[in-house]
Amino acid sequence: MQKWIMSGILAVACIFAVVLMFTLPGREQVAQEEKPQMPEVTLNAEQAEATVKANCIACHGDQLQGGAGPNLQKIGSELSSDQLYSIITKGKGGVMPSFKDKLKEDEIANVALYLSEKK
Ligand code: HEC
Repeated sequence: MQKWIMSGILAVACIFAVVLMFTLPGREQVAQEEKPQMPEVTLNAEQAEATVKANCIACHGDQLQGGAGPNLQKIGSELSSDQLYSIITKGKGGVMPSFKDKLKEDEIANVALYLSEKK
């Protein structure tokens, strides 16, 4: 009788360990891949231009024609505002810097919206 209880407990412990092994790293991965959520903003083109002038033209050119970074003049036909928001927030390719700590979420969203209209 006691043997049954012992092996029962052991089996449950094993199942529990296996479940943990598969779920824990899984959750971490999901957190890493989670895309930043773009806040709702109404486009303020004047403010977006000022933000872009101050932060982006050094690499993307004063007319966004490109330089160290790619041309962004028609970026809206390739990327959605959500994708732009994600790139500006997180950076890209190790060269395009992350602006998460330099700009407010609303400012990034406004720039993303502004660029998404460039088609
Ligand atoms: C230090 C230089 C630098 C600055 C400053 C910079 N970028 Fe970039 N950016 C790059 C480079 C380099 C790439 C290309 C990265 C790659 O594709 O690997 C890039 C890529 C991008 C892309 C993706 C283009 C595509 O075709 O996939 C967008 C959008 C973008 N930048 C927007 C911005 C905005 C908006 C700002 C200002 C808030 C900014 N960048 C500031 C260097 C810069």
